[in-house]
Amino acid sequence: MKNSYSFDTIIKRENTGSIKYDLRKEYFGKSDIIPMWVADMDFAIPDFIQDAVIKRAQHPVYGYTALDENFYNSVIDWMDKRHNWKIKKEWIGFTPGVVPALNFAILAFSKEGDGVIVQPPVYFPFFSAVKDNNRIMLENKLIYKDHYYTIDYNDLEEKAKKAKILLLSSPHNPVGRCWTKEELTKIGEICVRHNVIIVSDEIHHDLILPGYKHTPMAAISESIANQTITCAAPSKTFNVAGLASSVSVISNPDLYKRFNSLLDRLHVSRGNFFGYTALTAGYSKGGDWVDELMKYIEGNFKYLESFLNSELPDIHLTKEESTFLAWLDFTETGLTEKKIKENLIFEAGLAFSPGSIFGAGGKGFQRMNIAAPKKIIEKACEKLKKVF
Ligand SMILES: Cc1ncc(COP(=O)(O)O)c(C=O)c1O
Repeated sequence: MKNSYSFDTIIKRENTGSIKYDLRKEYFGKSDIIPMWVADMDFAIPDFIQDAVIKRAQHPVYGYTALDENFYNSVIDWMDKRHNWKIKKEWIGFTPGVVPALNFAILAFSKEGDGVIVQPPVYFPFFSAVKDNNRIMLENKLIYKDHYYTIDYNDLEEKAKKAKILLLSSPHNPVGRCWTKEELTKIGEICVRHNVIIVSDEIHHDLILPGYKHTPMAAISESIANQTITCAAPSKTFNVAGLASSVSVISNPDLYKRFNSLLDRLHVSRGNFFGYTALTAGYSKGGDWVDELMKYIEGNFKYLESFLNSELPDIHLTKEESTFLAWLDFTETGLTEKKIKENLIFEAGLAFSPGSIFGAGGKGFQRMNIAAPKKIIEKACEKLKKVF
């Protein structure tokens, strides 16, 4: 295999239309800075995806495309093999990205002025999905103790009384929790009790560190599945975010119809064939590649953790169970977020995502994307040490 498992290779990404690389000047005021912000990976996609996309590109007609049996079967098999979740073809829909899917779900299942629960600190487009659609944001803040995050169930129960929808990040970006089956069951049962629709963003579901296990929310029980919209994608898993292709899985026929008829009405239920091709190839052949990827990511996490412990004990890596995003607690440095940011950008030359963009509880934290060759992580650590 030519590309697979070449996680050590440093790839030049400048001038490829990459947000992470080509918009550094715009976002950070300088471009000679190591980009560790946007959540895509600096690794090559696996060769079986690239080969499939090239093969399709070589066909001379790029006409309208329908989802075929291979597409559905690859999604069904992947969910079964990787997540022990049995799904049916008639539950699956195409979505042109997970963030669009969150917005579609809000439009389909609530109206202006309705309450939507989010669990900050959380991926910031959750906030805009609520606010820009004129819904009321109900914050069920995560509990942070001993560098570890848990759910405040009492508060969730209170918020659920006033809500139509819960936007769940599972596994959670940025805090890296891979919620356990017990935690998800409690969340799900609260939502069932209060008739709150769960929009479960499971885009990071394949990025699970060795020793942990992802549980799809909708796999827990029929009553929970009955009010859950699952959003998943190959974009994080195989580094194909630029193809803007994702799936929704909805077993409740009424919710399926309400969600997918909105996409039909907006003419966005058919994506592009490069996206389908990459998804089908990844889900059909990608198991071993993802296992190797997660071993590599685990190595990067371990390196970062031991470096911080020995060289920078005031900066803590919160306990990571999933994703390739390190959530770093700088609060013990005693520095303001402004000062941390200035040090990172102008002294260290590191582009991280500042914690405050993830909402309540984010201040004093920084999110560092470690899906990069180990040499880059080592370089970034040395740069951090010089400044903090
Ligand atoms: C939790 C979460 N949801 C959605 C997305 C983006 O999804 P998409 O690019 O498919 O819109 C990200 C990207 O970082 C994410 O972390």
